[in-house]
Amino acid sequence: MRRLKERGAIVRPILTEGGAKFVTPLAVGAIAGERVFTDLFDLAEENDVGHIRLARDTDLVLVAPATAYLLAKMANGLADDLASAALLATDRPVLVAPAMNPRMWANAATRRNVERLRQDGVRFVGPNEGTMAERGESGLGRMAEPLEIAAAVEALLAPAGSLKGRRVLITSGPTHEPIDPVRVIANRSSGRQGHAIAAAAARAGAEVVLVSGPVSLPDPEGVTTLHVETAREMLAAVEGALPADIAVFAAAVADWRVAEASAEKVKKGKGGPPALTFVENPDILATIAKRVDNRPQLVIGFAAETTNVIENAREKLTRKGCDLVVANDVSPATGIMGGDRNEVSLVTASGVESWDSLPKEDVAERLIDRLSGMLR
Ligand code: C5P
Repeated sequence: MRRLKERGAIVRPILTEGGAKFVTPLAVGAIAGERVFTDLFDLAEENDVGHIRLARDTDLVLVAPATAYLLAKMANGLADDLASAALLATDRPVLVAPAMNPRMWANAATRRNVERLRQDGVRFVGPNEGTMAERGESGLGRMAEPLEIAAAVEALLAPAGSLKGRRVLITSGPTHEPIDPVRVIANRSSGRQGHAIAAAAARAGAEVVLVSGPVSLPDPEGVTTLHVETAREMLAAVEGALPADIAVFAAAVADWRVAEASAEKVKKGKGGPPALTFVENPDILATIAKRVDNRPQLVIGFAAETTNVIENAREKLTRKGCDLVVANDVSPATGIMGGDRNEVSLVTASGVESWDSLPKEDVAERLIDRLSGMLR
């Protein structure tokens, strides 16, 4: 409540009966600086359908902490107290910050409830990994940190124009590393996710520079697009585009290039196929993330993996020095590479948040919301 008030919000608390076992209405009211609504006091006011007014006369409803029980009630439309009645009556965005024992979070019933709530448009922040109130227990179930919750609230309330005055730099697509004038080493990246992020950043009001490898997509509207072929060209274009507030490295950069590309077309010959010698390409993400001067405030990497997705993303986060890694499974069976949809997990130092499969445009939109919240 304090973090929200510092950001200019008016916080009107509803304290459940369970909540009142942890904190008194008096303490909650003092922190909020507003009247506290509880079941006990408000029965009289229900004549005037107080829960409907409470539910509508607000910009957003935040449930923090959200217990497994409350999620179950929400998923099933149960309204047996003031909080659940207000949640059922609201037509405003609902954000929940779950907090429960890791086994309760992992339980099939909770998974079903969360999935159903997501489909109903309810937004989630956390839970994070960490130690629990119960002695010796740890795992996924800790409530998101107050600052994360405040950032998620801000991002939900101000998605449009939230990056006004900010510079966002994005890499997208594959790189092509020449073997000779007609042949290249390439990969299957379509550039769809990176281009969608550039478009979403532009819609949010940012000044966007997109450094794109060879793709068959049109340049996004309202974005300065620089076209490059190789990893080294991409690095030079990125460095030339600094400074930036946010840098998102969505390109699938070739890890290696042919040591000495032939100036002439390599001919079929008696010697059999040519032996190619490779050298390592610069790591653009790591180079920018580790800069001392002009490091963007937020550096975002992608981790496209076919195995141990989260583990690999965590490792990348620390090794490359970025602030957030968007991890996804690009096994051929997922159809993500080149497809319309993406299923990602956001990995930061404070935990992992997994999103359902979404159109790449929606992933882009939500990522930009999230980044603008983190920036603030
Ligand atoms: O190590 P890996 O290639 O899986 O890391 C992926 C992340 O690093 C992506 O964000 C990608 O854009 C970035 N990257 C880069 N330059 C490279 C290799 C990867 O910027 N040479």
